[in-house]
Amino acid sequence: MPSPSVIVETFTQRYVAEILDWFASLEAVVQWGGTDLSHPLDAAQIEAMLAETTGAEPARSMLAGLADGKLAGHAQVALDWKNGVGRLSRVAINPRMRGQGLAQPFLREVANRFFANPAFERLELNVYTFNDAAVRTYRSLGFREEGVRRSSAKVGNARWDTAIYGLLRSEWTPPNDQNGRPT
Ligand SMILES: CC(C)(COP(=O)(O)OP(=O)(O)OC[C@H]1O[C@@H](n2cnc3c(N)ncnc32)[C@H](O)[C@@H]1OP(=O)(O)O)[C@@H](O)C(=O)NCCC(=O)NCCS
Repeated sequence: MPSPSVIVETFTQRYVAEILDWFASLEAVVQWGGTDLSHPLDAAQIEAMLAETTGAEPARSMLAGLADGKLAGHAQVALDWKNGVGRLSRVAINPRMRGQGLAQPFLREVANRFFANPAFERLELNVYTFNDAAVRTYRSLGFREEGVRRSSAKVGNARWDTAIYGLLRSEWTPPNDQNGRPT
């Protein structure tokens, strides 16, 4: 079956309000964005991220995935220009659109955009080990598990394990265009 189609563009201020109700609890916010964030997610937290997306070598890129004209996905890449490393983070599919196979085509295009810049050699990510849908998606894109930081996150009274995954430029297979050529 062909992958559902997702168009990727820059995530801008116009999308901020739409993403705020995607995470219903502290656990959901942290699963998405890590322990530095608080619940409820508010515009100020997203705007602080957007403030890092400017300049010649921004600290972060923020992307929106659109399906049928609706905001279907969000992802960020924290950019380490010195080492040529990006950290894929804050990946989410709109909760009203999950389970439809949108995550893989969305992130495939996000990774494609990242590796289009020759300054970068490695894309890495952190994922909580219980997050099966995320792990399946990352593995399907070619990410390899590199280790687990056991008991590394404190969320309320719970502690979560964080797995580290990496994907090198030499391991990345770009998607083909309509004519079957690598994009
Ligand atoms: C992780 C996330 C982006 C995946 O998107 P999705 O729309 O739910 O998943 P998809 O429909 O694209 O399916 C992706 C894979 O996960 C599997 N999957 C989907 N929901 C699942 C679930 N609840 N439990 C286990 N596996 C699941 C699918 O079968 C598919 O695997 P396959 O390709 O091997 O068949 C989405 O669930 C999400 O936004 N989660 C909340 C935020 C989050 O956890 N972000 C990741 C931070 S690291």
